[in-house]
Amino acid sequence: MGSPAIAILGTGSYAPARTLTNDDLSKLVDTSNEWIFSRTGIRERHIAAKDETTSQMAAAAARIAIADAGITTADIDLIIVATVTPDMAMPSTACFVQNHLGAPGHAACFDLNAACSGFIYALDTAWAMLGSGRYRYALVIGAERMSTVLDWTDRTTCVLFGDGAGAVVLGPARGTAQIIGTKLYAEGAHADLLCIPETGCSPSDQTPGGLRKQPTITMKGREIFKNAVREMEQAAREILHQHHLEPSAIDCVIPHQANLRIIASIGQHLKLPPERFFVNLERYGNTSAASIPLALDEARSTGRIKPGDTTLMVAFGAGLTYGSALVRW
Ligand code: UT7
Repeated sequence: MGSPAIAILGTGSYAPARTLTNDDLSKLVDTSNEWIFSRTGIRERHIAAKDETTSQMAAAAARIAIADAGITTADIDLIIVATVTPDMAMPSTACFVQNHLGAPGHAACFDLNAACSGFIYALDTAWAMLGSGRYRYALVIGAERMSTVLDWTDRTTCVLFGDGAGAVVLGPARGTAQIIGTKLYAEGAHADLLCIPETGCSPSDQTPGGLRKQPTITMKGREIFKNAVREMEQAAREILHQHHLEPSAIDCVIPHQANLRIIASIGQHLKLPPERFFVNLERYGNTSAASIPLALDEARSTGRIKPGDTTLMVAFGAGLTYGSALVRW
């Protein structure tokens, strides 16, 4: 007998109230709305309040996903938070989320770092754990407070990212809706292309005074762009091939929301029209691990994804990591 069918039973998302427009950014660094929008498709992004943590944003998205799934917090026995901006190095953000939600003590909680591919990695992990039959309902969350790891004097990176969270509840399939497949990849040889180099734990992070450096993102944008197009296309093609599907069988593609030009290139390579892709990066920027679940929730709540649809999610991020997931609704 095979593993039990597991489905996404509910989705939720959260974005901080404050928005920062491209014009606002042009007062901080030498940039313009014209440059940012034409090169990326981004118009604005959300920025967490001073006292708003990654775990609070994650919990806000999770509450909506739990209600949408028609279960209660007491049913949750696994919480995975994909993030590169945890509240603390320890304990995990997932433990804070458990506490914010009042989830039961028997729930296993941990964080997962696969950068912008984190949500797909976490979905794969939770699916396998639920498939083992030892867990019944899982919260899979992507949540980021990217504003804290940006160098606000570096125009090549600070214009790209934003804060937010997206969550899904996984559990036993109730009808024909289910997760069909996932596929994960990593290419550590290119780790240097996109990093937050300092953790404060490495000897090289120590200053003579013993102080930690403030960690911020460094990125080789053009190289990342080329790899993103190639590897997201590969992740899409291989999972479709594995499940004997043509790209045209996909009702909605939810790509990682980093750059509209990357998404357009993938569409051209897969011969899929732009309407087949759900894109909301114009209003959020790149929210790293939160990007796919944030877009997924919006696609569902606006009716872009309907029962019976087949969705392809495809991600790419630092690592380099990439991956894909096929889901029937
Ligand atoms: O989540 C996954 C991680 N991230 C990504 O997927 C990002 C992938 N990369 C990209 O999206 C693009 O490479 C960027 C949007 C980051 C940059 O676009 P680009 O078309 O590759 O520009 P570029 O880096 O080649 O820079 C072109 C010019 C440069 O000036 P010069 O050397 O031609 O005089 C930059 O200094 O644009 C300049 N530039 C800017 N100008 C105004 C770079 N950033 C800015 C800016 N405003 N914010």
